[in-house]
Amino acid sequence: MTSWRVTRPGIFAPCLLLLLLPACDGPQSALAPAGREAELLADLFWIMLAGAVVLWLAINGLMFYVTRINVGHMPRRLAEGIIIGGGIVFPVIVLAALLGYGLTLMPLTRVPGDGLRIRVTGEQWWWRVEYWPEGAEAPVVAANEVRLPSGRRTDIELAAHEVIHSFWIPALGGKTDMFPGRDTLMTLEPLTPGVYRGQCAEFCGESHALMAFQAVVLPEEEFADWLEAEAAPARPPSGPLEAAGQEVFLAQGCGACHTVRGTPATGAVGPDLTHVGSRLTIGAGTLPPTAEALANWIAHPGTIKPGVEMPSYDELAPDDLAALAAWLEGLE
Ligand code: CUA
Repeated sequence: MTSWRVTRPGIFAPCLLLLLLPACDGPQSALAPAGREAELLADLFWIMLAGAVVLWLAINGLMFYVTRINVGHMPRRLAEGIIIGGGIVFPVIVLAALLGYGLTLMPLTRVPGDGLRIRVTGEQWWWRVEYWPEGAEAPVVAANEVRLPSGRRTDIELAAHEVIHSFWIPALGGKTDMFPGRDTLMTLEPLTPGVYRGQCAEFCGESHALMAFQAVVLPEEEFADWLEAEAAPARPPSGPLEAAGQEVFLAQGCGACHTVRGTPATGAVGPDLTHVGSRLTIGAGTLPPTAEALANWIAHPGTIKPGVEMPSYDELAPDDLAALAAWLEGLE
């Protein structure tokens, strides 16, 4: 009876772990790599885990040996052998091997990019994203979404405006901190087209947890087409509702903070909205890009993202708010 009580948790713990394994998949998992850097890190994780398991088994095996098998008096040389061998020699060999393997990976993550450069700046709490194709004199400015060509190495220059943030797309690579006043660099080589999720990984204030983004990996040609479309000015309003929405935007002074290329709005405080309707989310990964969500965001940004610098426009007439949201949704 006693032994049954002792072993039951021993049986259930591995079963519970097996149940948790499906959680290792998905668009934001470092264990479901979709890029060269993430593959290296996933391999490193599994090899580190194997090393840890070997150490754990060896040390627990020794403990079992001295407490259950050889419980009597032990010759001094054997006791010293167990302590020195198990406590010093064996861990040093395993840890040195793991360190050596880890060091061999470092140069592989430092291979420079092959043309495109993207500059991402952490803001409170959103991402300013600037694309610099090779030889470009001015960037293509976007926000809150990072698009990358698959099979190419892209340099990602990281900066921050006010406080430290950390740029992390688990499925594509490791995390790198973003500092005010000091640029850092990471290079990513995505391998599998798809949509992955990125997240700020450094506590940066009350809406840190709501500072996410989508990372969209496109085949190279599709990426080139997308970047060309992204560089173009906003499309003109397609009907009276959208035209009214654009008028509300300009009359309310939204252009003091936001740029919509092709209109008089050239503000640089908030996210560039030239193609906001084509993004997969709004509010840096918090809401879908629908007119309803846009209206909700404009009226109550502080409720959706506490501490956000954008003021609430809850005094707007419902018709104006609907027109404004319709125009923004149409900015593809
Ligand atoms: Cu930005 Cu946490």
